[in-house]
Amino acid sequence: MACPENMFFLIGLFISGVLACFGRRDLITTMPDRLDVLTGSCVQIPCSFDVPDQHKDKFKSTIPTFGVWIKKYPDVHQYPGNVIFHSNGKVNRYQGKITGNLSQKNCTTVFFNVTTSYSDIYYFRIDGQPYCATDPVKSVEIVVRDFPSSPIITVSGEVKEGTPVSLNCSAVAPCPEHPPELTWTLPTQFTTENQLQEKPDQTKSVLSTVTFTPSYLHHEKNITCTAVYPVGTSNKTAEHNMMLNVSFSPKDTLASISPADPVLVGSCVNLTCSSTANPPVTNFTWFKISGGKPTQVASGLSYTLNVTSGDGGLYYCEARNSHGCGKSNEVQLAIKGQEEVIGVAAGTLGAFLLISLISLFVWRRNSRLHDGLERTDSPQGQNSPVGTVCTNQATAGEEPEEPAEDQPEEIHYGDIDFSKLQTKETPAAAQDRVQGQESEYAEVNVTGRGAQEPPLNNLDGLYAQVNKRGGC
Ligand SMILES: *[C@@H]1O[C@H](CO)[C@@H](O)[C@H](O)[C@H]1NC(C)=O
Ligand SMILES: *[C@@H]1O[C@H](CO)[C@@H](O)[C@H](O)[C@H]1NC(C)=O
Ligand SMILES: *[C@@H]1O[C@H](CO)[C@@H](O)[C@H](O)[C@H]1NC(C)=O
Ligand SMILES: *[C@@H]1O[C@H](CO)[C@@H](O)[C@H](O)[C@H]1NC(C)=O
Ligand SMILES: *[C@@H]1O[C@H](CO)[C@@H](O)[C@H](O)[C@H]1NC(C)=O
Ligand SMILES: *[C@@H]1O[C@H](CO)[C@@H](O)[C@H](O)[C@H]1NC(C)=O
Ligand SMILES: *[C@@H]1O[C@H](CO)[C@@H](O)[C@H](O)[C@H]1NC(C)=O
Ligand SMILES: *[C@@H]1O[C@H](CO)[C@@H](O)[C@H](O)[C@H]1NC(C)=O
Ligand SMILES: *[C@@H]1O[C@H](CO)[C@@H](O)[C@H](O)[C@H]1NC(C)=O
Ligand SMILES: *[C@@H]1O[C@H](CO)[C@@H](O)[C@H](O)[C@H]1NC(C)=O
Repeated sequence: MACPENMFFLIGLFISGVLACFGRRDLITTMPDRLDVLTGSCVQIPCSFDVPDQHKDKFKSTIPTFGVWIKKYPDVHQYPGNVIFHSNGKVNRYQGKITGNLSQKNCTTVFFNVTTSYSDIYYFRIDGQPYCATDPVKSVEIVVRDFPSSPIITVSGEVKEGTPVSLNCSAVAPCPEHPPELTWTLPTQFTTENQLQEKPDQTKSVLSTVTFTPSYLHHEKNITCTAVYPVGTSNKTAEHNMMLNVSFSPKDTLASISPADPVLVGSCVNLTCSSTANPPVTNFTWFKISGGKPTQVASGLSYTLNVTSGDGGLYYCEARNSHGCGKSNEVQLAIKGQEEVIGVAAGTLGAFLLISLISLFVWRRNSRLHDGLERTDSPQGQNSPVGTVCTNQATAGEEPEEPAEDQPEEIHYGDIDFSKLQTKETPAAAQDRVQGQESEYAEVNVTGRGAQEPPLNNLDGLYAQVNKRGGC
């Protein structure tokens, strides 16, 4: 080789001393520090170089220049056997191709059919006339594995029921000619968008963004992003599992009474409220329906009272967290003696009550939405925070934010015709269409509620007053 590089090196060593010599670079390359590669696949090394001022005159873009890759050591003269690729075609120990245009100082190189023996560090060298140089400072580490590394899922911010959320899944694409294909597994319908991305170090990755509207039913359900890498005629897969943490307003709010049978005046009755919420319920509030209107009587998970003659009637509770509130079923506190009066009337009232109840039920179903709005305007509304719409969830499993039965379904389908919007729908999505409807509705409801999170009235006074009445 007629490269004057050695001479420079020796002169440098003798004149400037060891430090000066090592501090000098005859070539400045830019490439990633590390590349993780799959066996059998290809690897693209993003590479560019610059010629230091002292050699600028010698490097001419018009003169044919070759690129050389050296394994492990930068000194090609001491380790000529470590040259694994020379673009003049004379050394082809690795099947490869410099895809960059060396005249434009682009030394991007692809090696095909990678095997585990390729795991090592590599230096780049320019071989031209009269300019030959290796950058002894910069190398790229290639790490070859049999299995791809897992893609990475990222979530930004809180995952709230009814609010569309986007998650990213990113998978490295060391062989951009055969990028991985990313797929999502979600407990609901979703849309995805995939793109090839370039990181600052010019390595490539595939990014998939999924968008869906979570419902409380998705809380603690797993989502998966799977990366399928085509390798030769087969595929290699890697996946990332993540458990969803969906925050939601109280659901399945239930009031229970113990004992459930009619009690004597002076005995203790325990009313207990239960609910599921994320984050957990911060406040339980108890209401008694007196004169047809709810009146706040206590706060706390359970409400224990030493029964007086005026305590008979219907009670319910409301559970609240930072995302809203849920209203329970109503429970009857029946007092012995008082029930006999009811007993006499029961025969005649029975049939009437049954009919009334059915009518009421039908009416309530038809006007649930309206009812909710009306309640906030009514005087009792002042007991609970203004604007609170506590939906009744008496029946466990009933969807708290289910649209009224009479709401025409076609409005809903018109709103979320995903078939037109989405780029992708899983089979699970179709199966989950009902949930999708609920989510959609929840979204509307939550929006209406979002702005209003007023603090509850101070309940402590009332609670104290209630507890003063008797020592249960
Ligand atoms: C270098 O060449 C590669 C492969 O042809 C190309 O993808 C890349 O964009 C080029 N880089 C620059 C900085 O032009
Ligand atoms: C490389 O770049 C030079 C000038 O920048 C240009 O003349 C030449 O056609 C390019 N070669 C290829 C293969 O694109
Ligand atoms: C990769 O190497 C295997 C054997 O090591 C060979 O059979 C195959 O043809 C090679 N594939 C390519 C694309 O060079
Ligand atoms: C997803 O990636 C895009 C593009 O890089 C970025 O703008 C967005 O903030 C990312 N979102 C998340 C949740 O990481
Ligand atoms: C959910 O993912 C976790 C790991 O994040 C895993 O341990 C668990 O088995 C998965 N559950 C299901 C039902 O797939
Ligand atoms: C590899 O995965 C693709 C989808 O990513 C699929 O179409 C193809 O059939 C799979 N090939 C094999 C051999 O499993
Ligand atoms: C009321 O019931 C709840 C739940 O069953 C229990 O934790 C609480 O101790 C009971 N209170 C009284 C006074 O019995
Ligand atoms: C889930 O989210 C809630 C509310 O944002 C938070 O309080 C809780 O710590 C989270 N749980 C986990 C396991 O991350
Ligand atoms: C919830 O109850 C606690 C204790 O009873 C009280 O300090 C807090 O102010 C209440 N929060 C709201 C929002 O009413
Ligand atoms: C209920 O209150 C009355 C009157 O204060 C008292 O005599 C009675 O012992 C109380 N009952 C219980 C179970 O504490």
